[in-house]
Amino acid sequence: MADALIAVEDLSEEQAGQELTRLAAAIAHHDALYHGNDQPEISDAEYDALKRRNDAIEARFPTLVRSDSPSQRVGAAPAGIFSQITHARPMLSLDNTFSDEDVADFVASVYRFLGVMPDNSIAFTAEPKIDGLSMSIRYENRKLKTAATRGDGTTGENVTANILTIKEIPTELPADAPDVVEVRGEVYMAKSDFLALNAQMEAEGKQTYVNPRNTAAGSLRQLDAKVTASRKLKFFAYAWGEMSTMPSDTQSGMVEAFKGWGFPVNPLTRRLTSVEEIITHYREIGLQRADLDYDIDGVVYKVDRLDLQARLGFRSRSPRWATAHKFPAEQAFTKVEAIDIQVGRTGALTPVARLEPITVGGVVVTNATLHNADYIEGIGNGGERIREEGHDIRIGDTVIVQRAGDVIPQVLDVVLEKRTESSVKYEFPKTCPVCGSHAVREKNEKTGKLDSVTRCTGGFVCSAQAKEHIKHFVSRNAFDIEGLGTKQVDFFFDSEDPALMIRTAPDIFTLKQRQEASSLTRLENIDGFGRVSVRKLFDAIDARREIALNRFIFALGIRHVGETTAKLLARSYGSYAAFAEAMQEAAPKFGEAWNELNSIDGIGEVVAASMVEFFKEPRNLEVVSRLLKEVTPRDAEAVTASNSPVAGKTVVFTGSLERFTRDEAKARAESLGAKVAGSVSKKTDYLVAGPGAGSKLDKAREVGVTVMTEDEWLALIGG
Ligand code: IVH
Repeated sequence: MADALIAVEDLSEEQAGQELTRLAAAIAHHDALYHGNDQPEISDAEYDALKRRNDAIEARFPTLVRSDSPSQRVGAAPAGIFSQITHARPMLSLDNTFSDEDVADFVASVYRFLGVMPDNSIAFTAEPKIDGLSMSIRYENRKLKTAATRGDGTTGENVTANILTIKEIPTELPADAPDVVEVRGEVYMAKSDFLALNAQMEAEGKQTYVNPRNTAAGSLRQLDAKVTASRKLKFFAYAWGEMSTMPSDTQSGMVEAFKGWGFPVNPLTRRLTSVEEIITHYREIGLQRADLDYDIDGVVYKVDRLDLQARLGFRSRSPRWATAHKFPAEQAFTKVEAIDIQVGRTGALTPVARLEPITVGGVVVTNATLHNADYIEGIGNGGERIREEGHDIRIGDTVIVQRAGDVIPQVLDVVLEKRTESSVKYEFPKTCPVCGSHAVREKNEKTGKLDSVTRCTGGFVCSAQAKEHIKHFVSRNAFDIEGLGTKQVDFFFDSEDPALMIRTAPDIFTLKQRQEASSLTRLENIDGFGRVSVRKLFDAIDARREIALNRFIFALGIRHVGETTAKLLARSYGSYAAFAEAMQEAAPKFGEAWNELNSIDGIGEVVAASMVEFFKEPRNLEVVSRLLKEVTPRDAEAVTASNSPVAGKTVVFTGSLERFTRDEAKARAESLGAKVAGSVSKKTDYLVAGPGAGSKLDKAREVGVTVMTEDEWLALIGG
C-alpha cells in the first residue's frame, strides 16, 4: 500500500477499478470513525482529497462506478449509527409472481387452502407495488413516537428524526384513532424530485444519483435530519403492525381508515374478485407506469377480508394471503467479453458472463449468470431447448441481458446476426478452476438424468468451497456477524498469518484470542480496519456465542437444508444434543431415528439423506465439535404459544378432512406450537382422523395414541 499514487489520467482501466475499490473501503472506514465519535485518523483536507480522487476516477471511467461508491451515498451514514428498534410485529416480505398463470395459481391456492370452491366469492385488493423503502411508524396516544426501517424484518433502524421531516406523514392522529397504531408503508422519492435533484447536482459539477429508490434510501440514512428534509420524500400507507383496536375488518377498509387519519394512500388501489379482473387491472397499471411520478415494480394482490388473512397465515417469510405480481424485467444488448467460473459453497460451478458494461433499467450491469453448462448450450433443466438451434452463448457474442428487480442479471439469448468469426465456443471445464479436482455432473438416481449442475469433487480440499462456506456461516440468516462481509472473509481466509487466518467457522471465534496472544500482526494496523472497527467486529462475534438452534443448524451449510428446514429440525429436536444424536442414529437409514426424521412434515428423503451424510463425515464432526467449544446453540423454544393446550405435542392428520383443509390444519396447529408429523409413531400425541382414515388409524390404536375427530380437535384448540 506504500506505492505512490498514480495520476488519474495515467490509470489503466484495471488500475482504476482497483483504486475505486480501495477508495470506497478507505472512505467508508474514515466515515465510520468520524460518525462514531471516535478519533479521526486523517485531517479533513486528507479526507476531501480521497473523495476528490474517487470522483475524478469515476468521471474518467463512468462504467466503473461501484454501487458502494462514496459518490452514490448521500452523506454516507454507515450502518450501525442509528439505534435499533424491534418491531412489535415482524415486517415480512412478499412472494413474487411473474405470469398470468402464476396469478391464477395464487388465487386458486387461496381457495384451496380455505377449502372453498373457486367461485369468485373471495375479494382481493390490487395495489401498486411502490419501489421505495418500507417503514413502520408507531403512534402512541395519537402522537408519532418512533419510525423504523424494515431492517431484517425483526429489528430495523430508528429513523424517527428523519421521518418527522416528511410533510406527508402526520405527526398527530385524530381523536378517533386507537391508542396504539403502527402504520406501515413505503417511503419514496418522486421521479420529478429525483430529476430536479440530479439537475442541481450536475449544475454544481457533482456526481449524480443512480435512481430514486437509492437516493431515497440514502436520504433517510442521514444523521443530519436537515438533509433529509431538503430531499422531499413522500409516503404511501398500505399495511400495519400493532393496533390496539382495528378500525376495519378488511384490507381496503384499513387503508380507507389510514386515509381518514391523514395518510397518503395510493389512488390506483382496487377491490377485485376474478382472476380476469385482476389481470386486466395489472395491464392497465402497466400502461400507466411510465406516466406515474413514482417508480413501481409490480402490483400487490391481498385477500381483502382480514379473518381470511388470519386463517391463511404465513409461510416462513411471506403471507399466504398476498403476492407481488412483478412487471417484466428490463432488457438490453451487450457483448460477452469472457466467461468465468464461480465455485459455490456446495461446489457448484456457475459460469458467469463478464459483459461490456451496459445500463439496464438505470443500473450498470457488468456480470450476468449463465446458470450451468446446458444453459450455455441452450438446453433447459428438463433437457428441453430453451433457445433456437445454434444459439449457444459464445465469448465475443452480442447477447440480450435481462435484469428483474434485485435478481442477478441473466443472459437470455444470442443475437446470431452479430456473431463474428472471432467468437469462441465455450468449453465447460472438467476440473475445478480453484482446486483442480474433478468436476462432475451427478446422476439423479430417480430419473437417471444428468444433474444440470457441474460440481467440484474437492470438498474440504477446495478453498473456494471452504471460503463460500464461511460466507454462508456469517450471512444474515445464519450467524449474522456484522463486520464480516465478503471482503473481510476473503481477507481473513487468504491470510497466511496464524494470528489472522480464518479457514473454518470456529476460527472466527478464536480470532480475538489469537490477536491478543500475538505481538506481531495487529488487525487494527491493517488497511481497512482501524481500532473502532476491530472492537466492533469482536463485539459482533462475541454477541453470537449464544445462538438460536435453527440459525446454528442453517449455518452448518448442510446441502438441501435451508432456513425453513433448519427451523423444522430445531423445533422437532429441541436441543442440539438431541438433534446430533438423532442424526447419528439415523445413519443406517432405517429404524426409529430414520423414520422419525422422515416423518417430520416438510422433510423428504433427499434432505434426510443429505443430513445423515453430513453427520457421517469425520471432518464435519471435527469442525462442529470445535465450534461447540466456542458457541452454545440455544434450545429451540418448544412453542410460540406456550399457553396453548397443544404446545409441544405431536399431531398427525389423516383421512379426508371436512372441517378444514390439510394445509390449514397444519398451519393452525403449528401456530399453536404443535408439531405436525406425516406418520404415526410412539411419539405421536394425537391422531386427528377424518372419514375414511385407514392404516394410520390402525397404527395409532396399536401403539395407544389418542385418536380424535375433527370436532374434538377444534374443541381442544378452542375453535
Ligand atoms: S405489503 C406482509 N403492499 O414490497 C406484507 N408491500 O416485496 C407486507 N411494497 O417489503 C407488504 N408496495 O416494502 C405491501 N402495496 C404494497 C407494497 C409493498 C411496495 C414493498 C414493501 C415490502 C416489499 C415486499
